[in-house]
This record gives sequence, structure tokens and C-alpha cells, in this order.
Amino acid sequence: MIKLSDFSSFFVANWKLNGNFQFIDQFINNLSLPKDHSKCVVICPTSIHLDYMSKNKNGFYVGAQNVSEHEEGAYTGEISVNSLLDLNINFCITGHSERRQIYKEKDNEINLKSDILIRNSVIPIICIGETLQQKEKGITNIVLQEQLMNSIPISSSFENTIIAYEPVWAIGTGLTPTIEEIDETHQFIREHNDKLNKYKILYGGSVKASNAREITDLPNVDGALIGGASLKSEEFTRIIED
Ligand code: PGA
Repeated sequence: MIKLSDFSSFFVANWKLNGNFQFIDQFINNLSLPKDHSKCVVICPTSIHLDYMSKNKNGFYVGAQNVSEHEEGAYTGEISVNSLLDLNINFCITGHSERRQIYKEKDNEINLKSDILIRNSVIPIICIGETLQQKEKGITNIVLQEQLMNSIPISSSFENTIIAYEPVWAIGTGLTPTIEEIDETHQFIREHNDKLNKYKILYGGSVKASNAREITDLPNVDGALIGGASLKSEEFTRIIED
């Protein structure tokens, strides 16, 4: 398993349902990785492209966007953790708000998916975050508390799990919380219980070259999960650069 404590920060590109072979070739060609090896760069392409990405990776890690909570069996269309191991995949996003909202994934499923990953030495990047409605109702911390309590498996520790705070209303919208709000929420997550104190906690939601540095320099932020801006190699390079 990757030793998370070897890295000071994590930059995770979530390509969602985008990209093809030509795109990947061009992206890798144009990408410049940071000289600072304490920055860990992870790219999460579609599951169909994991193999190609893994074979062509050069200085970055490859992550999946989803995994089945089942080891194997009659689960048409699912991706098993063993398939990820076959392809040398080190990370996997779980609980992304698009999985929660569009595919109705619940905390208990996210918990099982994260657990099967941990048991197979793949690092889950467990996403939590409030919707706009929940933010407006002033219940952000209650929502996060519930997600943290129910989606993080007992097998999880700071050595095998990453948390990503992604306010749902900030994803793909160009909106972000203020810098103070991000820091406060990350501190809230960190202090939620003793166990979370040492976790790596990433921020996600409309991270781009123009705001990445300010966000990732915050004391309670250990990196970023990047969607739209990670599809442009030049912009992604600017986000991860030294
Ligand atoms: P965004 O997406 O950077 O396009 O807002 C982030 C994510 O969905 O993880």
C-alpha cells in the first residue's frame, strides 16, 4: 500500500465520464509533474481506461472512480476490487456526490465499498459534502457528521484512507466557499473525533489554477480533488506545479 505519510499533499484528478485514448495520450504528453516529490498526483480516468492509463503512467498514480462492494458474483456491470488490483490501481474515489445523488448510493454502501478497498490495500478517497439546501438550512455540520460516522468503515485509519470535503453546490458550478469557510469546515472534520485528527483531508469543488494555491495552502487542507479543471493538461499542470 502507498504510504500516505510520505506525501505532504494530494492532487486528485476526477475525469468522470470524459476522455478517450487520444485525449489520454495528449494529456500525458503535455503534463508536467511537480519536482517536489512530496506532492502526490492521482488521475482517475473512466474504468475502461484504467488499464491504459496504468500502463502509461509516468510519475503519477492512477485511481478508479468506483468499485463494487461485492468481491465477485452475479453483479452485472460492476467493477470488482480484484480487477483494480489486476491493473495496479492504488486509489479509488468512494461516495462522490454524483454517485450519491444520481445512483442513490447511501452511506452504508460507501462504507462497504471503502472497506473492501482498504482490505485489499487500495486507498479509498471518501467524499462527503452538503447540498445547497442543507447549507441554507444551516445544517452543514450535522450532515457532515452523519456522513463521517456512517461512511467511514471501522477498518479505516489515517494510514489507509483519504477524506475529501466537497460541498455539492460547489461541484462544477464555479462557486466555492470562502477560504475561511473551507478552513473551518476542514478543522471541524479533523476534530470530529480523535481518529480523524491525522487524516489527509482534501477539498473539492470548482478548484482551478486561480484558486488552488490559496486553498491548498490552508493549514487544514491536504490537497484537492479536481474535476473540470483536471481535464485541461495546462491548467492541471498549473494547479500541481511547485
Ligand atoms: P469540479 O468537480 O472541480 O468540476 O467542481 C469536482 C468533483 O466533482 O470532484
